[in-house]
Amino acid sequence: MWTKKDLEEFVRKQFVDTKLIVVSNREPFQHNLKEGKIECIKPAGGVVTALDPIMRACGGTWVAFGSGNADHQTSDKQGRLQVPPENPQYTLRRVWLTKEEEERYYYGFSNEALWPLCHVVYHRPVFRTDDWEVYQRVNQKFAEAVLEEIKNDKAIVFVQDYHLALLPKFLKESRPDIPLIQFWHIPWPNSEMFRVCPYAEELLKGLLANDILGFHIRYQCNNFLDTVDRTFEARVDRERTSVHFGGHETLVRSFGISVDFEALSTLAQSSGVEQKIKELQDEYALHGKKVLTGLDRLDYTKGIPERLMAYGRLLEKYPEYREKVVFLQIGALSRVHIQVYKDLNDEVNALVEQINWKYSTDSWQPVILARRQLAYPEILALFRLSEATLVTSLHDGMNLVAKEFVASRFDEMGSLILSRFTGASRELDTALLVNPFDREQTAEAMHQALQMPAEEQKKRMNRLRAVVQENNIYNWAWKILNELPRIAVTV
Ligand code: G6P
Repeated sequence: MWTKKDLEEFVRKQFVDTKLIVVSNREPFQHNLKEGKIECIKPAGGVVTALDPIMRACGGTWVAFGSGNADHQTSDKQGRLQVPPENPQYTLRRVWLTKEEEERYYYGFSNEALWPLCHVVYHRPVFRTDDWEVYQRVNQKFAEAVLEEIKNDKAIVFVQDYHLALLPKFLKESRPDIPLIQFWHIPWPNSEMFRVCPYAEELLKGLLANDILGFHIRYQCNNFLDTVDRTFEARVDRERTSVHFGGHETLVRSFGISVDFEALSTLAQSSGVEQKIKELQDEYALHGKKVLTGLDRLDYTKGIPERLMAYGRLLEKYPEYREKVVFLQIGALSRVHIQVYKDLNDEVNALVEQINWKYSTDSWQPVILARRQLAYPEILALFRLSEATLVTSLHDGMNLVAKEFVASRFDEMGSLILSRFTGASRELDTALLVNPFDREQTAEAMHQALQMPAEEQKKRMNRLRAVVQENNIYNWAWKILNELPRIAVTV
C-alpha cells in the first residue's frame, strides 16, 4: 500500500531538482467575496479531490484558472499564492481569463462541445467556430503561464482533462525536453461518437504531443487508439499501447484514479464528524429514519432524475418504507450559465416536488434536496449516516464520490448502489451494481440495501475498502510517474 510519505520520498529521490507542474482549468482553492468577507472554498469535482493530496505530498506549482471573484485580491502580481492557505504546501499560479474567454473556452467549447461529446448520455454537443478559436487561444495562454513557471529549469508537466487538449502541443513546440503527461478525467467515447467533432484531428494532434496519456480504464484507452487509427495516418502500436505520430511516441495507459483512503477513513472517525452527523440529523429531521443519500454536482451525466424516479418507484412498490425512509440529495450547483444545466435544475426540483406531493404526511417528507457545497467533515458525516449512497451516473470516467463513501465507512456498514456505467464499477464489484436507466432495477437495489443483513453489508464493504485502500491516490500518482523511464524524453 502506498502512503503519502512513500510518494514524497519517491519523488524526492527520482526527480532531483525537477519542478512538478500540474495544470488544470479548475483551481484547488477559490477565493470569493461573500457578505463583505473573503472566504476560501475548495471547488467540487474529481480533479481537485484527486490532485490536491498529491500536490501536498510532492510540492510544486499548480497552474489553473483564477475563477473566484476575490482571487485577484488574494494573489500576488504574478497570480501566485501559497496553498492550502492555512498550511502552505505548494504554489497555486492563477491564470486570468476575460469574461469572453471564460464564456467561449470554458462554457462553450469545453462544456457544450467536449463534455457531451465524451459522455454518451444522448445529449448533443454544440460546436461553434468562435468557441473553438477562443479554446485554442486560452490553451496558448495556459502554455505561456506554464513556461513562465518552468523558466529554464528541469520540470515535469502534468496536464489535467479536456479543457487543455491543445496545451501539450504548444508546450512541446517551446520545450521539447520537458516530459509531458496528461490525464483525461472523463470518458473517451468510441470513434463513431468522436468523429462528429469538426476539430477532431487538431484535438488528437494536441493530445499526441504528450509523452504519456492516461485514462481511467483500459476500455477508454482502446477507444482512443481506435479514434486515432480512424482519423489520420499514425502508427498505433497495440502491443505497447502507444501511438507514433510525427516522429514522437505517446504511451497510452490506464490508471484508475482514487482518493486519499487513509486520510478520509481517519477523518471519518473524528469527533468533528460525529458532531456533523448530529447537526445533519437535526437540520433535516433524520432521527429514527433510514437515510438514502446522493451527493453530486448538479450535472446531467450524474443520473439524478433517474435516481429520484427509482426512489418514487420504491415508495410505490413497497409502501412499508413510507414514513421510515428519507432520501437526502445534496448537490452543488454547476455550470449554471448553460441552459441544459438550468433545465436539469428545474427537472430535479419538479421531481422532488412531485414525490413529496404524492407521499408526504404531516410528519414525513420523503425527499430532501439541498443545493449546497459540502466540505469534508460534512461529506463524511453524510455518508456515515447513510443506509445506502447512490451513485447513478449515466456515464462517468471514474466517480470519486463512490470511493469517498467507501473510505468513510470504517464501520464496514452501509451499501453502495453504483451505476455500471462508471469507471469505478470495474473495481468496486461488490457494490450493488445497477443500470440507472432501469428504474425497476434501481428501486430493487434500494430495497435490497434497506433489507441487507449486517453480515452481508460487512462482507461487501470489507472488500470495497480493501480495493480502495490498496489502489489509493498515492498509488495512482506513483504508477503514472513510474512510466516516465519508458519515454524518450529524460527527466
Ligand atoms: C469533472 C471534470 C473536472 C471538473 C469537474 C467539476 O470532474 O473532469 O475537470 O473540474 O468535473 O466541473 P467544473 O466545470 O466545475 O470544473
